[in-house]
Amino acid sequence: MCAFACIFVWMNNFGIQLLKWYDENKRDLPWRQTKNPYTVWLSEIILQQTRVDQGIPYFLRFVEQYPNVVALAKAHEDEVLKLWQGLGYYARARNMLKAAKIVAFQLGGTFPTTYKELCQLPGIGPYTASAIASICYNEATAVVDGNVYRVLARFFDIDLPINQPKGIKGFQQLAQSLIISNEPGTYNQALMEFGALQCTPKNPNCLRCPLNDRCLAFANNTIEMRPIKIKAKPARARFFHYLIPIDKNQKTLLNQRTTADIWQGLYEFPLIEATHTLSEQELKAHHDLPAWAQDANWTLFNQEAVVHRLSHQVINAYFWIVDDMDETMPHSWDFVHSRGVSRLVERFLHKFKR
Ligand code: ADE
Repeated sequence: MCAFACIFVWMNNFGIQLLKWYDENKRDLPWRQTKNPYTVWLSEIILQQTRVDQGIPYFLRFVEQYPNVVALAKAHEDEVLKLWQGLGYYARARNMLKAAKIVAFQLGGTFPTTYKELCQLPGIGPYTASAIASICYNEATAVVDGNVYRVLARFFDIDLPINQPKGIKGFQQLAQSLIISNEPGTYNQALMEFGALQCTPKNPNCLRCPLNDRCLAFANNTIEMRPIKIKAKPARARFFHYLIPIDKNQKTLLNQRTTADIWQGLYEFPLIEATHTLSEQELKAHHDLPAWAQDANWTLFNQEAVVHRLSHQVINAYFWIVDDMDETMPHSWDFVHSRGVSRLVERFLHKFKR
């Protein structure tokens, strides 16, 4: 047999064995009961940057609250952000609502049916479009997520970095060349599931892997080194000083964050940000200090910063209780608990017990 034919048989076998493994090992997940594009879309958005076990309760709450795309489209952003609270990467929720409105009010409630059209919707990139197009409409477009990178980098022992343009393109092309075109949705899910359950990031059980006889990284003893990822720049340190006003009627103030950043649309207490920890004197002299805080009584709630790590930044947060003031505040604690807040504020509220 010529070399090309050998490679073809080898690659083709990869897919066939993968499907067999999937059939025997796949998890019974709630979104796998259907090919409804709304449900598949919802699950795929939730599962980005979220583990399956963490995502399931959110998925179930969303489908209960918004059983179809029209129901979601009619929701208020505050309500969707509240339901999303704790999942992080809130742009996913904001974009989902924008996309739902387009599908419901401009496309007559029907989801686009092709990869290309799906990519036009807010928050739907190549990964999500491939997942929906392949699972719901049998379009042979390969998904490439973290699991797929790892499985392919190991099976083919590829040393291209997965977070650089050359690697991204190369892995996308390889994934596309391997797809089983009469069952693209099942194949894509099988590859992701194989990465999640068998070809795990740490301590994969290679001795009990059905692909170990042809896995090149296993043969070359490079499993631990694959995939290769170029180290990101060190995370930026930010220092958040939240002021929690409490007036004589025990009311407080919660603002909606308008800055176009990861927390846009969420609610938070008045905030003074700095490049280092500020003392009470420094805060009181700060140009952003609200007038009501000037002559009030201040107590630092946490001596040690609450540390919140995000992908490119580390937030160090301090919560100052500011009371005994003359001004009145607009918000009850019921209001505070009804709004979507960041994980950081949520953790504070949990400890503050109001
Ligand atoms: N991770 C994200 N989406 C998935 C899917 N559809 N199947 C398996 N793992 C996934």
